[in-house]
Amino acid sequence: MDRFVIKGPTPLVGEIAIGGAKNAVLPLMAAALLARGETIIENVPDLVDVRFFMTILEELGAVCNFENSRLTIDTTHQDGCNAPYDLVRKMRASIYVLGPLLAYHGEARVSLPGGCAWGPRPVNLHLDAMQALGAELDLDEGYIVGKTKGRLQGTRFRFEPVSVGASANILMAAVLAEGVTELENCAVEPEVTGLAEALVRSGAKIEGIGTNTMRIEGVNEIAPLKHRVMADRIEAGTFMAGVAMTGGRVTMSRVNPSHLRSVVSVLLDLGCEIIEDEDLITVEMDRRPKRIEVVTRPYPGFPTDMQAQIMAVCALADGTSFMTDSIYNDRFTHVSELNRLGADIRLDGNKATIFGSEKLQGAPVMATDLRASAALVLAGAAAEGTTEVNRVYHIDRGYEKIEVRLAALGANIKRESY
Ligand code: EPZ
Repeated sequence: MDRFVIKGPTPLVGEIAIGGAKNAVLPLMAAALLARGETIIENVPDLVDVRFFMTILEELGAVCNFENSRLTIDTTHQDGCNAPYDLVRKMRASIYVLGPLLAYHGEARVSLPGGCAWGPRPVNLHLDAMQALGAELDLDEGYIVGKTKGRLQGTRFRFEPVSVGASANILMAAVLAEGVTELENCAVEPEVTGLAEALVRSGAKIEGIGTNTMRIEGVNEIAPLKHRVMADRIEAGTFMAGVAMTGGRVTMSRVNPSHLRSVVSVLLDLGCEIIEDEDLITVEMDRRPKRIEVVTRPYPGFPTDMQAQIMAVCALADGTSFMTDSIYNDRFTHVSELNRLGADIRLDGNKATIFGSEKLQGAPVMATDLRASAALVLAGAAAEGTTEVNRVYHIDRGYEKIEVRLAALGANIKRESY
């Protein structure tokens, strides 16, 4: 296993290019199953989750090739419908293959994803929507076993609550269904919008892209996707939070500022200076963070995937801050680890009260889920002394070479195997 050893405090200064979005590329990879031929996806980050999804697609008969940020998925001979437990349990997003398999093959056998680091994450909306499209689903020894009588049938489905994954899954299935599907209260995260735009370029008929109501007119087939992945707004937000914690000045390139409105607003409230210019964002922080109050919301609200990172900033704020996660009630595994670094955070259900400290002290901490781990790395760069972040494979799932890139910005961080 690997750990990071971080010596702080060090300000973050310099330039960094932001990579392709993990949460955009995963559904695009599943969408390759909707066609026979070679799907080409550019600007793909080299992440554990991407390489892992490649193994799932290969299990289904696809041939994947990934080099220099270019991923090709040849589904000419795709022949499988079985996504096994030992693969699916490692990554919840594997359930994205359910919709395309039912739509293209008329059958699927996909393991129910296990829980994740911070607790149960249901998939009822994925299943309800597939059944609304006419699929017959059974649960057999932990597997979702699905069959369709002929093609999936267009339907009307309303998501409650808003679900990114279920919106993407059903959108993909509806593209090849017979008739019209109306989706209500669907997610408008950029990653879902990007998927819809890519599908339209391959021949899908989708209206209302970027709104909470999408209308899909099923077609008999689509062409393999050709798409360039959007910048990762959460990776950008993570580095911005790092500047807010450690002080300094960082310019990020290849970002889309329009995807970061709610994150930029919170960073301005924290006291950061921010300059935006086309695909550049510069963040500067030369003071102690101010206290803030934040509630996570579906896009365009403040993202739950930035909750841990901003909480770490609040740990150093001048005053008492409040953070509520309205998306996940239990996504707080980072709280006890931040408190080990000298933070003073109290939890009451899904509400955290963060009593700002003057400084944090380095200590050994444990990474748990992807974003919590990133928050701990940032806290280590801001803390006085040495911080060891153990089990960093969690971070490698969603951040490409984060230690190399933080070191290039002046952080004193090294990866060690133990
Ligand atoms: C996606 O997960 C992201 N993952 C998550 O990012 C992100 O935290 C989440 O959306 C919310 O923005 C990917 O895109 C691969 P949801 P997803 O379905 O689709 C409930 C990261 O760090 N729900 O939008 O699984 C659910 O419990 C990851 O990159 C149901 O009740 O999230 C939650 O409360 C972590 N039933 C809410 O909806 C369902 O069938 C939103 O979840 C599905 C979800």
